[in-house]
Amino acid sequence: MLSRTFLLPAIVLLMFHSNGVGPARADEPAATGESDEAKREELHLYMKGRYVYQKHCVECHGTTGRGNGPWAPELDVKPRNFRSGLFKLRTTAYGSLPVDDDLRRTIRSGISGTAMPIFAQLHDEEVDALIVYLKNLSKSWKDPALAAKPVPIPDLPEWFADETDRRGHAAAGKTRFAALCSTCHGMDGKGDGPAGKGLIDGWGNPISPAVLAAPHHKSGDSPRDLYRTIATGFNGTPMLGYSASLREDEIWELVAWILELGES
Ligand code: HEC
Ligand code: HEC
Repeated sequence: MLSRTFLLPAIVLLMFHSNGVGPARADEPAATGESDEAKREELHLYMKGRYVYQKHCVECHGTTGRGNGPWAPELDVKPRNFRSGLFKLRTTAYGSLPVDDDLRRTIRSGISGTAMPIFAQLHDEEVDALIVYLKNLSKSWKDPALAAKPVPIPDLPEWFADETDRRGHAAAGKTRFAALCSTCHGMDGKGDGPAGKGLIDGWGNPISPAVLAAPHHKSGDSPRDLYRTIATGFNGTPMLGYSASLREDEIWELVAWILELGES
């Protein structure tokens, strides 16, 4: 019963979207005069996504996507409420919606240090379908102001490959870290800075600054992953994106320093 009452408004939303009333998605061409076939395909993906979601996601994210599944009370880091339209792991600027590939990466890679599993076993079409389904759970996806293109991630600078050179740049990163980041993350990246106490996230739950002196990070551990996290931040948390306030090389120096913190 629940499923039917829930599905109807969702289909209406979907129709709106397919009619081109909704915003163009940043990672797809604008839907100018989508054919009936495209609409049918999207509806097919939506139905399939709903099925895959009910099978693999409801225990944590809840039947209606509010993040209140039966396992949620046990979890320290609460499952995402998809109704909020806030996503932490993105290539897009702080405050924007993620692009499809961001959702795909989260589903395929999981979120380190939380209950969010790695779904390697799902077929590509099942993941595509989940993405269509998730994007019908919040009105945010209809707001053109929230759609954005990925922030470019530059190539790794050459100095990264040279150990001595990299240590020099990491030292500059350490100084910048002390000025900008240690207030929350602590001087040694242990998440114990004075401004990190008593923080509340966008869903009303307590949140602590990440322990950066660790081998694993929520949005991935490679230098490019860390660059992305610092550049775009985590929506719904006090971890802002620095792409507008820091230069590329300044972000890379912070990455080099965080990698050294992780070694210690
Ligand atoms: C065992 C519990 C659990 C299951 C099952 C689960 N998740 Fe999650 N998921 C989480 C938790 C916890 C978070 C929040 C992590 C955080 O905020 O750092 C999360 C977050 C997410 C996010 C948001 C990432 C972001 O950028 O904020 C997406 C998308 C997601 N899950 C998709 C799924 C999908 C799709 C499924 C089913 C195929 C699924 N999850 C199954 C626990 C789970
Ligand atoms: C106002 C407090 C605050 C400041 C200032 C801050 N952060 Fe964060 N940061 C956080 C919080 C809170 C999280 C955890 C978010 C989460 O777990 O969802 C975080 C997460 C991160 C992560 C992700 C780590 C992981 O394990 O996923 C990185 C990397 C990071 N911060 C780097 C930085 C850098 C570099 C700076 C300075 C340029 C900085 N932060 C400044 C609060 C802050």
